[in-house]
Amino acid sequence: MVQRWLLGANATERSSRWATRRRWGQWRWSGGHRNMLSDSGYRFGAFELFVRRQLLMHAGTPVRVGSRAIAILTALVAAAGDIVTKQELIAAAWPTTFVDDSNLKVNVASLRRALEVIDPGQDYIATVPGRGYRFIAPVRRISTGTVGLPAKIRLIGRVDESRDVQERLTRNSVVTVSGTGGIGKTALATNVAHAVAAQFPDGVMFVDLAQISDPQLIPAALALALGLAAGGSEPLAGIVHALEGQRRLLLIDNCEHLLPAAASVIDRLSASLECLRILATSREPLRIRGECVYRLDPLKTDPRSSPTLSEAMAYPAVELFATRVCDQTGNELQDADAPSVAEICRRLDGIPLAIELAATQIGATTPARLLEMLPGRFEVLAYGCRKTPARQQTLQATLDWGYRLLSDGEAVFVRALSVFAGAFDLEGAVALSPSGTLPKTAADILSSLAAKSFIETDWQDCGVTYRLLATTRAYLAERLRFNGEDKEARHSHAAFMCAFLERGIDPSAVVAIQERRRKFERCLNDVRSALAWTLGSGEDVALGVRLAFASLPLWRDLSLMDECRDILGRALAQLDAMPLPDQRLSARPQLGLAIAGGWASEDDRSHRRALESALQAAQKTDPDPLSQVLSCAA
Ligand SMILES: Nc1ncnc2c1ncn2[C@@H]1O[C@H](COP(=O)(O)OP(=O)(O)OP(=O)(O)O)[C@@H](O)[C@H]1O
Ligand SMILES: [Mg+2]
Repeated sequence: MVQRWLLGANATERSSRWATRRRWGQWRWSGGHRNMLSDSGYRFGAFELFVRRQLLMHAGTPVRVGSRAIAILTALVAAAGDIVTKQELIAAAWPTTFVDDSNLKVNVASLRRALEVIDPGQDYIATVPGRGYRFIAPVRRISTGTVGLPAKIRLIGRVDESRDVQERLTRNSVVTVSGTGGIGKTALATNVAHAVAAQFPDGVMFVDLAQISDPQLIPAALALALGLAAGGSEPLAGIVHALEGQRRLLLIDNCEHLLPAAASVIDRLSASLECLRILATSREPLRIRGECVYRLDPLKTDPRSSPTLSEAMAYPAVELFATRVCDQTGNELQDADAPSVAEICRRLDGIPLAIELAATQIGATTPARLLEMLPGRFEVLAYGCRKTPARQQTLQATLDWGYRLLSDGEAVFVRALSVFAGAFDLEGAVALSPSGTLPKTAADILSSLAAKSFIETDWQDCGVTYRLLATTRAYLAERLRFNGEDKEARHSHAAFMCAFLERGIDPSAVVAIQERRRKFERCLNDVRSALAWTLGSGEDVALGVRLAFASLPLWRDLSLMDECRDILGRALAQLDAMPLPDQRLSARPQLGLAIAGGWASEDDRSHRRALESALQAAQKTDPDPLSQVLSCAA
């Protein structure tokens, strides 16, 4: 019994197949004609076959297959599940020539190879010995309205975002969904395009620019997607002419690596075609007239450390992780997994691609174990689904794609910024940048890096601050090490934190305790990391001692007394271990310990005595910043 996989095929359609097969040979693509703009086709796996254009696509990219092989494939797919005889296939591929079976065999073999290279392990064409061939994979018809558009996926969360983008499309001729790599721009834009398809009587077209490296080929890619003849001296003019008066949505995916050429093409199309709407995705905005930029944020993560599974699942990042685990292993997560999964999602900044890559590990390991392995995220998150673009198969590849689009100056600049553990401001960025960088230049580079989705910008009451997502920071830190710039950047960072703390305790600055505490909270992890580098690794003990002493008010305001004593103890030990300890500095940790001891001591008089003797010892060698520290910290 022949299995019927061709969904939606009715009796009339099936009975007319033979007649259709006979006509295949007469199909000639007369590119440039407006009627050619609509096409119908079939989808199997991640492939799409467009009948009129005789075009096989995989994940939005044309697959190189000869025209005879395409004709054979079309005949097989149209009759999916049924045997198509050798004679029928020969008639489809060589309608006007006499050829023998060996030609058919060669073309079927090349077709199989082409499919296998892209989708190994999946059989599409079965041989029926002595008779012909049969297409054995499930096939769906593609609606003519959404030609080339990737299938809709089940979006997790993104309800508001989807509504907002749809609403913006009604008001703006160009809407660009922008954000860092793997954040879900394509997924959102694709689903929006499906949702609004009915509002575009002339259809929705999809063009993926990721596969093109030459900006001059953009018009040809558009022409291909639209079923037009590419070429001529003014290919864009032909596209504009063909689209005149049409109410069509054009989804142009992955523009970032072809800016500004992509921006100029989109500008020209939108300026010339009033009824056209363009939805673009790009890690960097196009910056053209009439563009509405929609910045996509990461998926929300659960901030709690010990949520139950049902509590954590209310956050889309956790739901995505749980869904992918279930898709893959058939298993549900348990309550006991929830804290680890919530933490994994937080550490991955709620980036869907990173979460999907992490979820592929479950089965081979548990969420708790995966969390322990996460510091080596680039080795761990390296096994994506082989059907996704190469750019997204590993976390490293996704970041490489964006990194390659930075200028040399931007790359040097942002690499150094990876030493910041938390948010930083313009002054911090200048301190880390190559010497001689003016604040104005640094501000321009920061804006450009923010536009390229490499850094995040936050507007707070204290002004603009910048930060790197954890994954981006880890990636850049590796690059920094690889380029041998680690030591210098870490030194500049520690010196900046030290100067910041020494200046921040100026008693003449009247700062409310709440405000000071907020300031300290913001820089806490940076102070810790600067101390770890200077003292922990012994890279610059003198700077570490200064830093440890200058940070006294921070530990006190944040009630972190134990940590404070521990750091001062380490500073003292490091100084003692030095062959020639710096006399100017050696009294500081003692003094710091005396001050910190007083915070915990009940006995005010003995504390004062200890403090005075430490102070006297310190002032003999190092009168400079001590009075300031004391007024604030004692
Ligand atoms: N809300 C979501 N629900 C379910 N899956 C999602 C969601 N958002 C993204 N994904 C999945 O995460 C992965 C990355 O998403 P997507 O390709 O859309 O990212 P992108 O921002 O377009 O990345 P790039 O900058 O590399 O093009 C894809 O596998 C996608 O299907
Ligand atoms: Mg994308």
